[in-house]
Amino acid sequence: MVLCPKAECNGDVDLPLMISLGVNYSQMHDSSACITRDGEVLFAVAEERLSRVKHDAAFPYLAIRACLDFTGIKPGELDFVCFGWPRVGAGTRHDAKCMLSGAYPINYVNVASMMKRYASMTSQGSGERAFHRTFGATRTKFRFVDHHLAHAISAYSYSGFDDSAILVIDGRGAWEASSLWHGRNGTLEHVWTIPWPNSLGLFYAQFTSYLGFAPYSDEWKVMGLAPYGKPGADLREFLKVDGDSYRVSNRLLFGNSSSTMAQIEARFGPRRVPESDIEQRHKDIAFAVQDTCETAMLHLARIAVRRTGSRNLCLAGGVALNSKANGKILSSGIVDRIFVQPAAGDDGVCLGAALTPFLDGGGKVPVREMRDAYWGPQSCDAEIERTLRSYKIRFSHADDPAAVAASLIAGGKMIGWFQGRMEFGPRALGNRSILADPRDPKMTEKVNNAVKFREPWRPFAPSILRESAEKYIESATDSPFMILTAQVRPEMRAVIPAVTHVDGSARPQTVEREVNPLYWGLIRSFEELTGVPVVMNTSFNLRGEPIVATPTEAIRTFFSSGMDALMIGSFLVEK
Ligand SMILES: [Fe+2]
Repeated sequence: MVLCPKAECNGDVDLPLMISLGVNYSQMHDSSACITRDGEVLFAVAEERLSRVKHDAAFPYLAIRACLDFTGIKPGELDFVCFGWPRVGAGTRHDAKCMLSGAYPINYVNVASMMKRYASMTSQGSGERAFHRTFGATRTKFRFVDHHLAHAISAYSYSGFDDSAILVIDGRGAWEASSLWHGRNGTLEHVWTIPWPNSLGLFYAQFTSYLGFAPYSDEWKVMGLAPYGKPGADLREFLKVDGDSYRVSNRLLFGNSSSTMAQIEARFGPRRVPESDIEQRHKDIAFAVQDTCETAMLHLARIAVRRTGSRNLCLAGGVALNSKANGKILSSGIVDRIFVQPAAGDDGVCLGAALTPFLDGGGKVPVREMRDAYWGPQSCDAEIERTLRSYKIRFSHADDPAAVAASLIAGGKMIGWFQGRMEFGPRALGNRSILADPRDPKMTEKVNNAVKFREPWRPFAPSILRESAEKYIESATDSPFMILTAQVRPEMRAVIPAVTHVDGSARPQTVEREVNPLYWGLIRSFEELTGVPVVMNTSFNLRGEPIVATPTEAIRTFFSSGMDALMIGSFLVEK
C-alpha cells in the first residue's frame, strides 16, 4: 500500500490508498463485481450483462475480469476481495433453529431448500478458491461480509447523508429479512434485525407467484398491474404491521410449494396460469399486495425515524426496488430526504462489501453523494465503426448525435441509443436506452409491439430535464435513478400520456446537464423541436434478455426488433 495523497475521504487522517474488489456471489441470483480505489468506484458490472444470462448466479469471473481490464489493476495489486455474504452456514444454522423451534414448518420442500442453501453457502466459502483458480495466487485478503451490512453500506456510503436511518429490506439475506441501521459520520450502528422468514420480500414473491409471474423476479409486473385494481381485498391475514415490526403469516412459509398456493387459493380462488388472461380479480389482488406492502414499508420508515432520530432515510435490499412504495415514503412526509441505492438488489451488494475494510479498527466508510451510475464498460467510436463494418451494415456519421436522435424521436421513430459507459443497476439511464416520443398516446403499445414484447399494462418511464421537472411532476425532487414514483401534474398528463400510468403516476428520471451532457442535450433538442422536455426511456433489451452491453448486442437487438433507428456512438443506422 501507499499513502493516500489526499485525506478528504475520512476526516483528517491520512488513509492508505486501498484497492478493494467487491463481489456478490450467492449462487442464487445477480452475481456482480466492482472495483474501488480509495473508496471510489472505478468500475462495476453485473455478471448477467457479460454472460448474457439474466440474473446470472455463477461466480462472476467475467465481471471481475472486466473490473481488472478496465482499470489496468492486476490481481496481485488488490488489497482486499470482499464478498457480500458470510462465509458458511449462518443461514443454514438459522433455518434449522427456526424449524426445530416450530417457527418455520418442516417439510420436504423446506429441508431441500435449506440443504441447497447450505451447499450454496459452502460454495461461497470456495469463492476464494474460485478466484485463485482464475486469477492466480495473490497476497489479497479475503473477506466475507454480513449480507445486510453490505447492503446498508451500499446505501449509506453513496447517499451523501452524514446522519441517516438505513433500512435494508430484501427477500432474505443469510438469515436476515429486514434490518435497521443508524449511519453517523461514516460509522454504522446496528439497531435491529427482523430474521427470516418474517420477510416482506417473501410475502410479495408468494403473491407474485400466485398471480402467474416469476417470484423474486417479476415483482415489477405486480406493481405495474396494481393501479388497475380496486380496493377491497384484505391481506392482513397474510401480512400485518405490529408494534415495532410486521408479521408475515406462517401460511406463506412453505417455500414455492403447492401448499403455499393452496393457502392463498383457499382465500382468493385458483392461481392464475402463467400467460393466461388477466381477470379483474387478479388486478384487485395486485392492488392489495402493493397496498399492503406500502403500509408495511411506511410503518418501517416511521420506526426508523423514531429509533434513530434522523429524518434522512437510506434504502437498500430487493424490496427497495419498489419505486411506488419509495415514492409514498417520501411524499408522506415521514422523512425529509430519501436515498434509494439504484442497485438496491443483490447486484449492488458488491458496492457495500468493497468498502468494509474502511471500518477496520473503528474506522469510517467514506460518504459521498452518488450522482450517476455510469460505472460499466464502454465502446469507443473506433470499435463501434469496426463492428458495423464487419457486419457490412450501412451507416452514416452524425456530427451531433443528440440533435439527430431528437429529430428522429420527434418524427415518431423508436430509436436505440447506445452511448458512453453502461449503467450499473437494473435501470437504463440514457446510455443503453430505447427512446421514443412520450406525447403519442399509442407509443406504449407501439414500443411494446415492436420492441419490448412485454405486458401491455406495464408503464414506460420518462426522462425529464431536471430544470423542468417541477412543471411536469408534483413535489418534484432529484430522481436521477428512476426509483421513486411520483404523480404527473393533472394538466400535464395529456401532454405526456405514453409515460403516465393509469393512476396518473410516473417513474421519472431527472437528467442534469453536468451528469450526462449528451443525454441532456438530446432531451433539450427534443424540447426545442416539440416544446416538451421529456422523452420516453426504456432499457435497451428484448424481453427476457439482459440490457445490451456491447455494440454487437446493440446491433443484434436492433435488427431483431421493430426499432426504426440506432444511434450508436457517433453513427446512425436506419432501417
Ligand atoms: Fe439481499
